[in-house]
Amino acid sequence: MAIVDEVRQVGAEALAQIEAAGDTAALDAVRVAVVGKSGTLTGYLRSMGQVPAEERAEVGKTVNAVREEVEAALEARKATLAGAELAAKIEADALDITLPGRAQQVGTRHLISRITDEIAEIFLGIGYTVVSGTEIETDYYNFEALNTPADHPARGLQDTFYVVDRSGDVAAVKGESDVLLRTQTSGVQAHVMEEQKPPIYIIAPGKVYRRDVADPSHLPQFNQVEGLVVDKGITFGDLKGTLEYFVKQMFGEDRKTRLRPHFFPFTEPSAEADISCGICGGEGCRFCKGTGWVEVLGCGMVDPNVFAYAGIDPEVYSGFAFGMGVERIACLKYNVPDLRMLLEGDMRFLKQF
Ligand code: DAH
Repeated sequence: MAIVDEVRQVGAEALAQIEAAGDTAALDAVRVAVVGKSGTLTGYLRSMGQVPAEERAEVGKTVNAVREEVEAALEARKATLAGAELAAKIEADALDITLPGRAQQVGTRHLISRITDEIAEIFLGIGYTVVSGTEIETDYYNFEALNTPADHPARGLQDTFYVVDRSGDVAAVKGESDVLLRTQTSGVQAHVMEEQKPPIYIIAPGKVYRRDVADPSHLPQFNQVEGLVVDKGITFGDLKGTLEYFVKQMFGEDRKTRLRPHFFPFTEPSAEADISCGICGGEGCRFCKGTGWVEVLGCGMVDPNVFAYAGIDPEVYSGFAFGMGVERIACLKYNVPDLRMLLEGDMRFLKQF
């Protein structure tokens, strides 16, 4: 076969291989084999010296023409393959935005904290300020200054945890320590009256402790909000109006309030406030034990003895006080039958609020 025909055949084969190359790597292999340094076409140029003189010009022209054709084909095929490979890569890396995302678990505040804030908001709205006390309290502020001396029977209802020193002093263990976990937020009243001059309009939220066994209506640790007003000319009517306002804000306009006479050592007269039952609307049901009413808080007019401890003149000032359990308010608001449910940490329950 004439050399030019050989060259043409090499070219034709190369074009076929280029067309058949499935990816850029295969295509590159063809390029090296045909037009690379030791490629077949390059070989013809290198060995021009051995081509008979009369064929040389023709062979040279043909090799160059074929080479150009092969290189153009390589270029074109390379563009096609690179495009396809890029498209495949894009497809492989693609994000499937139709897949559902992983939901972020967003925490919420516990119902007890929320209700505490709701109570505070209601009183802040009518000019009260919020003060806080300490959970560890002395016997003096928890009982004594609240007109509850050591031999007072009302102490028995609020047996608590006494703080003993490191020696485990026997007197302290027997309950004669004068440092204790407060049984009520009422002690904050005594502190505030010592530290501030009237007019006083405060609420004091906080944790309290009692030596109680947990049951549907008792917890050994719970939260209270105390309220205290001391000013000139404060009457029982102010107390009643304030509580009615609070109840309507917290539970709804349709709720009624009633005051029942009761005893607290630090108020005189004292009362317990009831609200109409949220379940039966006052008709009487199991929740309200058939009475149509449920108890929400204790209250009364500040006892003159309590003013005396704090050095406030009861001839000039009068005042009222009240105290409520936050867990109890939460359960009454949402008709939860058992205080313990608030503390069990069951997400199915807590998520509802
Ligand atoms: N401290 C009382 C208790 O824990 C609640 C209470 C009743 C607070 C009457 C008051 C009050 O301020 O005036 O049961």
